[in-house]
Amino acid sequence: MGDQMKDKTVVVTGGNNGIGLETAVGLSKLGAHVVITARNQAKGEAALADIKDRSQSDSVQLMLADFASLSSIRDFAANFKKDHDRLDVLVNNAGGVNTSRSETQDGFETTFGVNHLGYFLVTNLLLDMLKASAPARVVSVSSRAHERRKGMNFDDLNSKQSYSGMGVYGDSKLANVLFTYELARRLKGSGVTANCLHPGVVRSGFGQNNGGFISFAFKSFYTLLTPVTKSNAQGAKTSIYLASSPEVEGVTGKYFADSKETPSSPASHDEEAAKRLWEISEQMTGLAAAPA
Ligand SMILES: NC(=O)c1ccc[n+]([C@@H]2O[C@H](COP(=O)([O-])OP(=O)(O)OC[C@H]3O[C@@H](n4cnc5c(N)ncnc54)[C@H](OP(=O)(O)O)[C@@H]3O)[C@@H](O)[C@H]2O)c1
Repeated sequence: MGDQMKDKTVVVTGGNNGIGLETAVGLSKLGAHVVITARNQAKGEAALADIKDRSQSDSVQLMLADFASLSSIRDFAANFKKDHDRLDVLVNNAGGVNTSRSETQDGFETTFGVNHLGYFLVTNLLLDMLKASAPARVVSVSSRAHERRKGMNFDDLNSKQSYSGMGVYGDSKLANVLFTYELARRLKGSGVTANCLHPGVVRSGFGQNNGGFISFAFKSFYTLLTPVTKSNAQGAKTSIYLASSPEVEGVTGKYFADSKETPSSPASHDEEAAKRLWEISEQMTGLAAAPA
């Protein structure tokens, strides 16, 4: 137990499994009040008990949020605000890869909808509270997979024309970096920082939501590569560092790996694309009206 995060309130989305679960354990051990989100009550409760047990902290809470539903995200943000009077750190972590195309409740392609629009909407809904709690931090889990993409495919953000599971995943993780950099520009002077990260190649539940052979293949891949992949606890280190370390107080608009600032791809620095993605995301999530 430490007290580095004493009196701080932290939200970790997708805190019931993998990297998010270990991020929650780590931040609880540092004394934070940690709220995890899960989309499944039973999984969330099991994680809650595990986090409390391993961190020896009772200051951990579960709230439900399905990031494939804009109304569920809105309900979560409203419930969080009802229950809490501050938010010091938001860790956007919930996400995954989907090898076949599906749609969210609101008709968006699922990987883009959950991994990008989910981060975008929950952050914007909690932004007033983060600002009021400043200094505060937004930490978004991206991936090196963003480097494989040359730019956002604005003509087909919902992948209706063509679909590749890893391609769409890479787009969503590029969107996480573009979003972070644009957020940092918009938050200049507010005392709220925005950074993103690559957690490493981590033996989590990643890819195992796809069922059948694909889930088996993802699991086997990560298991076979055990000597060079990270445990969930190792994979959570950069998220915990960005959420808590005094070394990054005031640092904003950066991409990290292994708790060090690292260059992100040239495409992630395209300010026009970041602004365009922000405006489209505002319309898609209903934060702004679509043009007439
Ligand atoms: N593992 C890696 O090698 C790796 C590498 C780079 C980046 N990442 C990123 O790390 C983050 C965490 O992933 P992980 O590796 O820890 O995988 P994971 O073990 O599968 O955990 C993902 C978490 O996100 C939640 N989630 C997924 N879809 C959701 C939805 N629609 N609504 C609410 N929650 C949802 C999952 O909930 P359920 O348990 O209910 O599915 C789970 O809690 C992701 O953003 C991923 O892109 C992972």
